[in-house]
Formats: sequence, structure tokens, C-alpha cells
Amino acid sequence: MLKTKKVGIVGVGSYLPKKVLTNTDLEKMVDTSDEWIITRTGIKQRRIAASNEATSDLAVAAAKKALKKAGVRPKDLELIIVATITPDMQFPSTACLVQKALGAEKAVCFDISAACAGFVYALSTAEKFILSGAYKNALVVGAEKLSAITNWKDRNTCVLFGDGAGACVLAPVKSGGIVSTYLAADGSSSDLLTLPAGGSRLPPSKKTIANKLHFVHMQGNELFKVAVRAMSEAADKALHQVGLSCKDTDIFIPHQANMRILLAVAKKTGLPLGKIYFNIEKYGNMSSASTAVALCEAVESGRIKKGNVVVLDAFGAGLVWGAMVIIW
Ligand code: UT7
Repeated sequence: MLKTKKVGIVGVGSYLPKKVLTNTDLEKMVDTSDEWIITRTGIKQRRIAASNEATSDLAVAAAKKALKKAGVRPKDLELIIVATITPDMQFPSTACLVQKALGAEKAVCFDISAACAGFVYALSTAEKFILSGAYKNALVVGAEKLSAITNWKDRNTCVLFGDGAGACVLAPVKSGGIVSTYLAADGSSSDLLTLPAGGSRLPPSKKTIANKLHFVHMQGNELFKVAVRAMSEAADKALHQVGLSCKDTDIFIPHQANMRILLAVAKKTGLPLGKIYFNIEKYGNMSSASTAVALCEAVESGRIKKGNVVVLDAFGAGLVWGAMVIIW
């Protein structure tokens, strides 16, 4: 184990597809309104990947930027983890496709399926591999093409999601770094958010297609309540593990599922709104990519400064949730 060192984020990058789908565009597709979407979710627009762009393409574009920022050559990468619920295919892993596109032939590759908490789960996994001494660096990507699993005729879900990717490079650092992680799961509520068909339980068939079982199915109301509780608890626990509390947080980077969830988490934890990074209005919910893109934007816009206490916090299908404290 690298007892004396911590693992930190040494480069970030993001990629958002060019096509913008606004609430006004959605008004022409389903029975909804710009007013309903903004009031109930905080979303104004989202990005949609092109038909010839798959999740690995988004991931590679974000990864190239993060590697450049970190000054790490693809051929020196030792581990690639992609957090996604919209892999290019069931197998091979999207991480292997990213490896191929980058020319990172030395890297060990796998995907993590932890839905919207995937980026935090993947960061924590990569950190442990580096701390153990197994690998000296890692590329972690949160990438999603949720538009591919969205039922564009279902107003309950289609207004919520967007596509994008965020990436970061991890390596041992001399100061700061990841100081605490709290991860949790509750499979007993797994039915609240699912993609029912296409796996071994319900292989693709005419019936699964007719019943729209290859799209996201969500019980939004139930999830909302759990999300507020779980995200508040995760932030508190990750901070308390290292003797900190929400008042010590300089910047809070949450998963962006719903503006009202984030406002409720702020109220419950006592976090001032000025310390929370919001980008839901521009991109909607991008699952694992939401936290990754938000982190990247917060770094690139100068919101995160050296020495800052940064808290990542995410919640999603599984149910899974978790938070991470990083001294920048
Ligand atoms: O990514 C991590 C996991 N995801 C989450 O954590 C999501 C958590 N849930 C949510 O964000 C919210 O529950 C939603 C945004 C999904 C829904 O908001 P809500 O305030 O919980 O609305 P609702 O589902 O209770 O629906 C209220 C009404 C319903 O009409 P009735 O039955 O009251 O007449 C819906 O049919 O709003 C209707 N509705 C819409 N109306 C216009 C639902 N979607 C729409 C829409 N446009 N797009």
C-alpha cells in the first residue's frame, strides 16, 4: 500500500454533443410545457448525441482532454474504468473500446454499472487500485447516451435526460487528494428505476419491443424522496469520516437529477446554495456523466481552487448512492 500518499485528480475533461434539444422542442413531441419542465425539474435544455455517436465516442472525446490536461500519454495509462448504463454493446466493455480508440494498450479495462452514482463508484475503485500499488494511474470516465434508451413518447421520462461525458485522470499526489468516500446500496428498491428488457431476464423479443421494455421505466415520486435522504446522508457521512461537516465544504458537486432534489438536500444539510454547482438547466440528467461533467466544469471555470474541500455526491438506480471528499 502507498501508505503516505493520497490519490488525486490530475486532469479533467468533458464532451457534450452539439445538438441542443430545448423544452420548446419537446413541447412539439409530447404533451408538456416549458413551464412544467422548468418548475418541476429545473431543466431548460439537454444535449443529444448524433445517430452515429455512441457512448464510447463521447467517452473518448472527454478522455483525450483529461489526458492532455494531466500530461499523461495514452500508452502510459494503466487502468481505464468507464461508468455507464448505456454501453455501446452488452459486451465488450465500453472501457475496452475506449482503450482501442486511445491506443492505451497497457491499460486494464472494465465498466462499472452503478447508474447515476457510477462516476463516484468508479473514482473510488480506481483510487483503491492506485493506493494498493497495483497501478500508478487511472482514467475514469462517466459517459452516457441516455437518448438511446429514452421513450420519446413518454412525457414522464423524456424531458429529463441528456447525453454527455466527463473524464478524469487519477494519480498519487503530494498534497490534497481523495480523503474520504462513503458508498451505499439498497437492492430492495431496485424496481423504482429500471431498463427492464434486453438482459437475461427478458431477452429482446417482439413482445418486449411492443411493450416498450427497452426504455427507462421510473417511479419518479418514490425516487425523489429517497434521493434527498440518501444524498444528504452520504455527504454527511463522507465528511464526518474525516472530522469535517457540510459547513467546511467549499464546493458541493452533486448528481443533477432534479433542481428540487438539490434544493431539498441543501436545506437538509445546511449547505448554502452558493456552494453548490448546478448545471442541470443546460444538460438535464446525464446519469454517470452528470457528476463528471459538473466536476470538470467547476475545475475549468475556476470555481474549484487549490486547497478547496470538494464534495461529490450522487444517487441512482440500484438503488446506489455515495459521496467523496477531495482536498483539491
Ligand atoms: O437520476 C437519479 C434518479 N432519478 C431521480 O432521482 C428522479 C427523481 N424524481 C423526479 O425528479 C420527479 O419525481 C419527476 C421530475 C420525475 C416528476 O416530478 P413530480 O413532481 O414528482 O411529478 P409527478 O410524477 O408526481 O407528476 C405530477 C403530474 C402528473 O399529472 P397528474 O397525475 O397529477 O394529473 C403527471 O402526469 O405531472 C404530470 N407530468 C407532466 N406534465 C407535463 C409528468 N411529466 C410531465 C411533463 N409535462 N413532462
